[in-house]
Amino acid sequence: MKHTVAKLLSQSKKETEIEIKGWVRTFRANRFIALNDGSTINNIQCVIDFENTDESILKRITTGAAVHIKGILVESQGKGQTVEIQVASINILGDSNPDDYPIQPKKHTFEFLRENAHLRIRTNTFSAVMRLRSALSFAIHKYFNDNGFYYMHTPIITGSDAEGAGEMFRVSLLDAKNPPLNDNGEVDYTQDFFGKETNLTVSGQLEAETYAMSLGKVYTFGPTFRAENSNTSRHLSEFWMIEPEVAFMDLAGNMDLAEDFMKYVLNYVLENNKEDLAFLEQRLIQEDKTKPQTERNEMTLTEKLRFVVDNNFKRVSYTEAIDILRNCKPNKKKKFKYIIEEWGADLQSEHERFLVEKHFKCPVILFDYPANIKAFYMRLNEDGKTVRAMDILFPAIGEIVGGAQREERLDVLKGKMAALDISEEELWWYLDLRKYGTAVHSGFGLGFERLVMFVTGMSNIRDVIPYPRTPQNAEF
Ligand code: 4AD
Ligand code: MG
Repeated sequence: MKHTVAKLLSQSKKETEIEIKGWVRTFRANRFIALNDGSTINNIQCVIDFENTDESILKRITTGAAVHIKGILVESQGKGQTVEIQVASINILGDSNPDDYPIQPKKHTFEFLRENAHLRIRTNTFSAVMRLRSALSFAIHKYFNDNGFYYMHTPIITGSDAEGAGEMFRVSLLDAKNPPLNDNGEVDYTQDFFGKETNLTVSGQLEAETYAMSLGKVYTFGPTFRAENSNTSRHLSEFWMIEPEVAFMDLAGNMDLAEDFMKYVLNYVLENNKEDLAFLEQRLIQEDKTKPQTERNEMTLTEKLRFVVDNNFKRVSYTEAIDILRNCKPNKKKKFKYIIEEWGADLQSEHERFLVEKHFKCPVILFDYPANIKAFYMRLNEDGKTVRAMDILFPAIGEIVGGAQREERLDVLKGKMAALDISEEELWWYLDLRKYGTAVHSGFGLGFERLVMFVTGMSNIRDVIPYPRTPQNAEF
């Protein structure tokens, strides 16, 4: 098909014969079709000569129907659009029964739309969100490609569970009712498909590290799986993660990379996805009107994105952050669910959001966390108690990026693993990196859906991935 709605709407040559296929969004006064084909948030108006169109055809022009229209692109007489199509012929390709089609031209709740996730993409909101999701993925690949990174495909089925990022989903073909047992009475995975216990990966980092130690700069961008039973608006059981890993880069370089990268992808959609952003911005403005004054957004969606692009992320050590939190009002007045008392406390999202939204009022990079609340592979600092970790915290989202400089010293890494009871046998290949040509290296993981939430202003992570997987939910 040569024509798309997007192209026709931007076309300056009028009075040309055109042909278009798409879906009817609305049909009013037996005359005006609002047609959409997914190429843009905007519909094109198609004007029917209803006196010369069969009654039986007019009846079949209903919301959701697929149609093939031939006609002439003309300057619009009405307001709201510059061009419209004078329909010469319309062919109904696929009917849509208005009596039971769920997506009517009215406001639906997001809960209702989640139950109809296969059809929700036909709404303006979800098509805008998913076009932005697509654009963001492209921008991510473009950034890394333009900056000399190689795209690496890390395995999805993994035989090591040492990352410690979360509970894993087992991959097994053993008889669930009657699994073979070994002499100790445990399930005998040597008889399983891979001859060992395997799971879906929680992160591609460890494998990415192996490639960074030869290719220099690599990144993964793939699905990751976590079996935690956390039913929050920011957690999925299956989510996509971007994980760059760079040889010879320290923690400061890691922060620079993360900040530059985040700004690039936000800038990319600000430049390339103006219409979808404008639509979502209006949606939020309307939504705000239904909220009490105190809960309304201080900035519009594009102002918020611009703000992140135009300002430096505030870099704050964990120790400084704890001081701020210990002495802040909500802590003293016991407004936090988890009161911060001592250095060493793990930060909850209420604390992260306080730092970003109330205290610093800008994105924050927290670094140098206590070793014992972070993963085994993080580089131990000279103080012996903190590690070169960094988390990036965003307004409304909390943690969006987690990363670190990696422990490159074999003896220190082995000590850490022993203390945490992580088997050297299982991670022999990971330890090899520290035996042969070890070097300072760093990387981070960006939760893709959290980025899409931030960009689109959607408040539930289930609404920024086509088919969300969460505890008790794997429909579609
Ligand atoms: O902080 P995490 O667990 O870090 C890692 O997995 C490291 N291996 C990354 C690395 O250094 N290469 O996860 C990274 C990010 C989080 O900051 C968050 O944005 C996102 O992944 N994330 C989730 N997103 C949706 N649902 C979940 N259950 C998530 N868990 C983490
Ligand atoms: Mg984390």
